[in-house]
Amino acid sequence: MKIIGISGSLRQRSFNTALLRAASELLPHEVELEVVDLSPFPLYNSELDTDGPPEAVRAVEQKIAAADGVLIASPEYNHSYSGVLKNAIDWISRPPIRALAEKPVAVIGASPGRYGTARGQMNTRQLLHAIGAYVLPKPELLVTQAPSKFDRDLRLTDEDTIHVYRSVLEAFVSFIHRTSVSTPTT
Ligand SMILES: Cc1cc2nc3c(=O)[nH]c(=O)nc-3n(C[C@H](O)[C@H](O)[C@H](O)COP(=O)(O)O)c2cc1C
Repeated sequence: MKIIGISGSLRQRSFNTALLRAASELLPHEVELEVVDLSPFPLYNSELDTDGPPEAVRAVEQKIAAADGVLIASPEYNHSYSGVLKNAIDWISRPPIRALAEKPVAVIGASPGRYGTARGQMNTRQLLHAIGAYVLPKPELLVTQAPSKFDRDLRLTDEDTIHVYRSVLEAFVSFIHRTSVSTPTT
């Protein structure tokens, strides 16, 4: 089984990208995670999308289309998802591939604040419903006070968070098996 990780942050020291990387160690061995890079995505402009999307977008779109599921971790900006994430989803939602339609997706997030991206995740889920993704309803992973949950090398160290994260990933793998319309790769 293959899962694509999407981070809504371009920061080198992003807590959300670090959260995605931590999944590699918590997922079952037979599940491979690849975190894709959104930094080459241009701002959406339909004039760039006449003969298909730019190469950087096409490459990610094809990886998502071929994957069994997508794990999204985004910062909460002003109580919503980041512009980086919205721009990427706008690109990826376009025909003919519509790579996120009927694709199992789990939404997680980390914030230095007290609400752990709760409002950002709510808006992300709504956005994903609009494009026909199958969104894992629960359990949720809301990482609050993120600087205290990672070490200096941005490794996730908080045991309670790891425990909840493991249960989210287990539920997601089971959700993928139940919802996938295509045959899983393993
Ligand atoms: C424009 C902007 C708006 C923000 N709004 C929120 C917010 O609504 N809620 C929140 O918890 N944190 C907010 N933050 C703080 C981010 O959660 C924090 O910068 C976080 O570390 C970004 O995620 P990253 O570490 O993955 O880059 C905001 C930050 C920025 C730059």
